[in-house]
Amino acid sequence: MSVALVTGAAGGIGSEIARALVESEKAVALVDRGIPALWDLAEKLDAAGGRVLAVAADVAVPEEVAAAVARTEAVLGPVDALVNAAGILQHGRIEEMAELDWATTLAVNAGGVFHVCQAVARRMQSRRRGAIVTVSSNAATTPRIGMSAYAASKAAASMLTRCLGLELAEYGIRCNVVAPGSTATPMLTALFDGSDAERATIDGVPQDFRIGIPLGRIARPSDIADAVLFLLSDEARHITMQQLTVDGGATLGA
Ligand SMILES: NC(=O)c1ccc[n+]([C@@H]2O[C@H](COP(=O)([O-])OP(=O)(O)OC[C@H]3O[C@@H](n4cnc5c(N)ncnc54)[C@H](O)[C@@H]3O)[C@@H](O)[C@H]2O)c1
Repeated sequence: MSVALVTGAAGGIGSEIARALVESEKAVALVDRGIPALWDLAEKLDAAGGRVLAVAADVAVPEEVAAAVARTEAVLGPVDALVNAAGILQHGRIEEMAELDWATTLAVNAGGVFHVCQAVARRMQSRRRGAIVTVSSNAATTPRIGMSAYAASKAAASMLTRCLGLELAEYGIRCNVVAPGSTATPMLTALFDGSDAERATIDGVPQDFRIGIPLGRIARPSDIADAVLFLLSDEARHITMQQLTVDGGATLGA
């Protein structure tokens, strides 16, 4: 059985990716902060017959990441699929942003991807086998009001992943990016401040230079998981260093 490691596995998108990987017969290491949702998910997937391992780790701390990857391989075997889905979003305009919010966002969203990719890629490289997908954001390529730290961190994560794809191509290891737009998870709903917020996301907010979502719906986590599973699969064997945007057209294909 091949082995996948998913960070942010307890979150809205990460848990859906983990569920889909279990369904496709992979053993899955569920990596997230030590929150109740992580143990709950592991229990649920285990009860459904999946082979899973819950590992508590903060992706911003390299020692915790190294230990999580080592434990995964000791218990489940060599990791051949990595999904970086852990992330945080702190909203706020630059002139009001606390230094700590900037630093934390970069440490988790960019630093976390660096630490996990480094720990896993070293092992994949020696085995000359593997695929990596980073869940970034359409904000990595489109400026958004109040999202500067997040967008900058996602731009870093995307480019880091694509550079890794270049460095690992000679080993047959592929690295790609999935860039979601608004997706129905706790991260998005935390931003919703009233009953009209979902409608406004779909219709657009001209004063914020948001055009809305041409396909007329907010993504479900499974829409993102489908793209991730495709990029990990053999059907994508000649695709690397790409960013696949899954946002219903919200950034006009930019
Ligand atoms: N929901 C959206 O609209 C949306 C849009 C674009 C991109 N994304 C990206 O998709 C990914 C998944 O987000 P989501 O919507 O599922 O959000 P979520 O908040 O439901 O899940 C994020 C998960 O990451 C974990 N996490 C956060 N910091 C961590 C850390 N330091 N170490 C380990 N785990 C950590 C959280 O505990 C949580 O389980 C994120 O990278 C996010 O930036 C989400």
